[in-house]
Amino acid sequence: MDIETLILGAGAAGLFCAGRAGPGVVVLDHAARPAEKVRISGGGRCNFTNLGTRPESFLSGNRHFAKSALASYTAQDFLGLVEAHRIPWHEKTLGQLFCDRSSKDIVNLLLAEAGKAEAEIRLDTAIGEVGHDGSRFTVGTGRGTLRARRLVVATGGKSIPKMGATGLAYRIAERFGLAVTDTRPALVPFTFGEGRFAELAGVSVPVAARTWGPGFAEAMLFTHRGLSGPAMLQVSSYWREGEEVTVELAPGTDWAAALRQGRKAAPKQALRTFLGQRLPARLADHLAAEMELSGTLAGLSEARIEALARALSDWRLKPTGTEGYRTAEVTLGGVDTAGLDSRTMEAKAVPGLHFIGECVDVTGWLGGYNFQWAWASADAAGRAI
Ligand code: FDA
Repeated sequence: MDIETLILGAGAAGLFCAGRAGPGVVVLDHAARPAEKVRISGGGRCNFTNLGTRPESFLSGNRHFAKSALASYTAQDFLGLVEAHRIPWHEKTLGQLFCDRSSKDIVNLLLAEAGKAEAEIRLDTAIGEVGHDGSRFTVGTGRGTLRARRLVVATGGKSIPKMGATGLAYRIAERFGLAVTDTRPALVPFTFGEGRFAELAGVSVPVAARTWGPGFAEAMLFTHRGLSGPAMLQVSSYWREGEEVTVELAPGTDWAAALRQGRKAAPKQALRTFLGQRLPARLADHLAAEMELSGTLAGLSEARIEALARALSDWRLKPTGTEGYRTAEVTLGGVDTAGLDSRTMEAKAVPGLHFIGECVDVTGWLGGYNFQWAWASADAAGRAI
């Protein structure tokens, strides 16, 4: 059977593209249910966009590539659709928009839009050989080979193989001669040596954290395996093996001034108590032990104050690694944008072949940016089809 447009992947980008592309679209997915990542996203409430979306919030080999699609389909556009579907939502923090009820509302929106466009969604369909027979794209499935005039690849990245991530998009890109940049887990917790923070597991603390990239002032969470929480997930997208992560505790605190002031006002106060007033108790205990902080504020020399202030505002931590694709929210890198038209997501050298969503080398920060990229890139391709 000849199909007008075949979309591979019934996730966020694939379903949204089906809704924008109009009749004649067939969507294939090997999963039993569509948009599983949307369903589990945002702790079950789906952080479906970010009102502060701007190109600077994305990592890519070409920082200009995402501009066109993000400008053509904005966070406000998606919000308009959410409201048209009467989905209650709220802004949590930093422009992040979540469903009031459940992420299933967004899955239903995607299915309703695809249904309105008369797209056919075929689940439980394994995808085999993908090629081109000279006039049509060909896709082998367990139930025979499909032929299509256009092929949209929306099979996501490598994150969370347990949820069906396969990296298929990269293999298709290479099969058609497109370059694929190095891929790595991003928005992923850090691991540290055995038991490094075990006694702190569950403690959350506001920090400002960075590697060589931008700084993120958000929460940091200690886990049995290492460090997580929004600040660490954000930083992980910029981190490379062997690098340190710099953490400022109680961001904005002038620790040297606070210590001097404390020494003057409460000289008999124990250092551990001083820290406990500004940091969670378990973290204060940990730091007091690690920095060998005994005695009172009165005993602090100027040099010791300076050293302590540096340690607290510039805490250097060296992760041993990350939790990898097993828990990474997204995959950094992907189909090289140099081979794609930024207005249509079409491969420059292969007319009719489009790549959208996470498989493209455009990766957003934590906070709804990755879904906004899925919607915007899907809209760009959908309008071009
Ligand atoms: P997506 O992964 O959604 O879809 C790909 C589809 O292709 C899947 O249905 C898969 O089954 C199918 N597929 C893959 N390989 C295949 C093969 N070989 N054959 C057939 N089908 C195949 N982002 C955000 O902005 N806000 C948030 O709140 C969250 N929260 C979040 C939580 C968690 C736990 C994760 C893992 C991720 C997030 N994200 C997020 C990221 C977000 O989920 C991600 O960026 C988008 O789902 C990417 O959309 P895509 O459609 O590109 O891939």
